[in-house]
Amino acid sequence: MSENNRSYLPRRETSPRPSGFSVQTSVRRAAHVATPSAPAAAAVPANGALDNYRVRAQPYYRPVADEIDLYEAAYSVRMPIMLKGPTGCGKTRFVEYMAWKLDRPLITVACNEDMTASDLVGRILLDANGTRWQDGPLALAARHGAICYLDEVVEARQDTTVVIHPLTDARRILPLEKKGEIIEAHPDFQVVISYNPGYQSLMKDLKQSTKQRFGALDFDYPQHEIEAEIVAHESGIALDVAKNLVHIAERARNLKGHGLDEGISTRMLIYAGSLITRGVAPLAACRVALVRPITDDPDMRDALDAAVTTYF
Ligand SMILES: Nc1ncnc2c1ncn2[C@@H]1O[C@H](COP(=O)(O)OP(=O)(O)OP(=O)(O)O)[C@@H](O)[C@H]1O
Ligand SMILES: [Mg+2]
Repeated sequence: MSENNRSYLPRRETSPRPSGFSVQTSVRRAAHVATPSAPAAAAVPANGALDNYRVRAQPYYRPVADEIDLYEAAYSVRMPIMLKGPTGCGKTRFVEYMAWKLDRPLITVACNEDMTASDLVGRILLDANGTRWQDGPLALAARHGAICYLDEVVEARQDTTVVIHPLTDARRILPLEKKGEIIEAHPDFQVVISYNPGYQSLMKDLKQSTKQRFGALDFDYPQHEIEAEIVAHESGIALDVAKNLVHIAERARNLKGHGLDEGISTRMLIYAGSLITRGVAPLAACRVALVRPITDDPDMRDALDAAVTTYF
């Protein structure tokens, strides 16, 4: 194993990309998303490998604090990063933006409880010519130097999660036992996981030995003005309408733990705004996009509907 690959501080740096987030359209492509049941390698030629996983257009990302600087510092030492925060608050958008900014391919894996270690690492396939090895998304990212984003990693079983351990400590290796190979991670490789602290239970949580391999960035719904700006940008509604939507969300967020499991997310506000942009009356848009999805409780629906009528 070369010193370079062993080191937590790889010598080779990626070229910086221009910063800024003024112009942009959202990335709607999902080319960098690999599902465990359809391992990434299937669609990827052996050479020139990760072109399909490049984030080509600059994603719109509105910074909320110093998360971009912190992530860049963490990436410069290839520290594995955990993005913590509630659903729909910008974690995925942030990692897409950072992959674009750092000019790294991004391989995303949506984790689930049926996922096996082979789904991440790879497997031997049988075809007409005999057997061949197919890299899974984690092996592909480690071999060629992508950011591997394990979305909702807590959904994966703990015996699956441990395959990332040797890649997320100073060893930076991935043993492929069935192939008899040890991949030394490419210097640009990094693991990012997302994690919703509200959802874990005793049965479903990350082991301390997994957590302690990561630095963590806390995400939450952005502060009022910033969230309104995001909602207006993403849905096309006027800023004052976006602000009203954010007010409604703030009311709902205060009910979390008092009848609501989760508050109204930024994503839901964008849905509501998008319906309004398409001519749906604000009251109806809010019912469809904000109130009905998050609760079936008639009293809670009434309380949220009342909040909506305060602002529309
Ligand atoms: N800071 C931000 N800048 C730009 N867009 C944002 C930001 N925060 C949230 N958004 C918008 O909110 C939407 C939802 O965010 P995203 O999908 O990143 O949530 P998430 O935290 O990954 O949620 P989940 O945990 O459910 O996967 C994005 O598609 C984007 O439009
Ligand atoms: Mg996400």
